[in-house]
Amino acid sequence: MDPLVEEGIPKQDGAKNYWSNIMRFVDPALDWAEFGVATGASARMLYGFLPKGREFFLFDTFTGLPKDWVRAKEPIVDGVNAVMTPRGTFDCEGKAPAFADPRVKVVKGLFEDTIPEWEYDKQLGFIHVDCDLASSARTVLFGLGERIRKGTVIAFDEFFDGPNTHGCEVDAFRDYVKEKKVKFGYIGGIGTNMVSVVIL
Ligand SMILES: C[S@@+](CC[C@H](N)C(=O)[O-])C[C@H]1O[C@@H](n2cnc3c(N)ncnc32)[C@H](O)[C@@H]1O
Repeated sequence: MDPLVEEGIPKQDGAKNYWSNIMRFVDPALDWAEFGVATGASARMLYGFLPKGREFFLFDTFTGLPKDWVRAKEPIVDGVNAVMTPRGTFDCEGKAPAFADPRVKVVKGLFEDTIPEWEYDKQLGFIHVDCDLASSARTVLFGLGERIRKGTVIAFDEFFDGPNTHGCEVDAFRDYVKEKKVKFGYIGGIGTNMVSVVIL
């Protein structure tokens, strides 16, 4: 299936229904990770669903986007139809959000550095990808290797940025599915940006 085909995405009404639906697919025996944490707004919301005894790893530099996030929508009008969010957006001055629960663990640094050094070799049950840049999402998907397996649920926050966008997380997922010959099913969506899949 081409991830660019939106037709296959089941859509939910509102965030509450979206997340509750996703959680039905998540194996409660497996740990979680989020890539793109910033102030921790989504991490706090997701923490509310964290199964008993599971760990939740939060990856970010906490210094904002490492480069300009440029995405272009088709059709290209008058030669240009691009949107740009500058490098450094979402900067939290290096400060990670605080969680009292020791099951929540912050992994600070660029994914390019922290993922290869991460001493965790089990399958992840749930992954939230909210790093905007296609290049960062690519680092996550390819870098996690065997931690993504059959049954892993991945929720993307900026899958598309409207129909036919280039430069978003979908670019990374398309390459990942093609190169690794990964099979997946869409399990939910809101609009065009929040899209979740389960690995088959
Ligand atoms: C949209 S924000 C995350 C928002 C957050 N999930 C929330 O709901 O509040 C994107 C985050 O991705 C992080 N990020 C993007 N690329 C990264 C990379 N290659 N390594 C580490 N962090 C990265 C940025 O630092 C930024 O905090």
